[in-house]
Amino acid sequence: MVFIQAKDYDDIGRRASSILISQVILNKKSVLGLATGSSPISTYQHMIKANASGLADFREVKTVNLDEYVGLDPAHNQSYFYFMNENLFKHINIDIAQTRVPSGISKDFAKECVDYENHIKSVGGVDIQLLGLGHNGHIGFNEPAEDFPVTTHCVDLTESTISANERFFEKREDVPTKAITMGIGTIMKARKIVLVVNGEAKADIVEKAFFGPVTPNIPASVLQLHPDVVIIGDAQAFSKIQNRI
Ligand code: GLP
Repeated sequence: MVFIQAKDYDDIGRRASSILISQVILNKKSVLGLATGSSPISTYQHMIKANASGLADFREVKTVNLDEYVGLDPAHNQSYFYFMNENLFKHINIDIAQTRVPSGISKDFAKECVDYENHIKSVGGVDIQLLGLGHNGHIGFNEPAEDFPVTTHCVDLTESTISANERFFEKREDVPTKAITMGIGTIMKARKIVLVVNGEAKADIVEKAFFGPVTPNIPASVLQLHPDVVIIGDAQAFSKIQNRI
């Protein structure tokens, strides 16, 4: 694992987007795995700038997203489909038909999960997967569990995740309680992983996930076993690991 300490949130985005952009410059047909949440927004802002300046061309890039809330229509302003359009896709020259977010309104979720895995295979797998980090150590929506879920699946969100996401909804009852997410195996198959994390509130989980035992109780801890992971964070998120990076 490589740790990069950035100056601040904007600098996290600048550094993460540099990695994604170099991938796209080297291979214009790259497959990017993308994430939602507040952590990757500055990364997307820098990707948008790189596209506007002509540095990065996304015309032939394909994307697959980590997860989606079950029950939210893509047009819902808190759906991850909507998030991706608002925060990235509509600002860059990507072909929207080449982007994919799992469906939160499938009539057959078992089939949607299998189709999603097959889609990732059919595009040749993920070159770089961007990740955030949940307060309880979740990646995508892989919540703490007894085992590492391997493939794309539906999950019940934990109370802590529902609470963390409450700020985006009018009231707690509006927060979806289920999600569809890539599995830990799906994420671990990405050839490179870039995780962005900021703020004091993540300091404890950063230490546990990356310097504690590998355990499905802290899903992100599995990243310790991946051969090519870059963790980009600010001084606050890295405050408990300063002397080890
Ligand atoms: C959400 C998402 C994750 C995200 C995480 C952290 O629930 N499903 O993909 O990484 O929680 O979110 P944030 O970056 O807003 O702290």
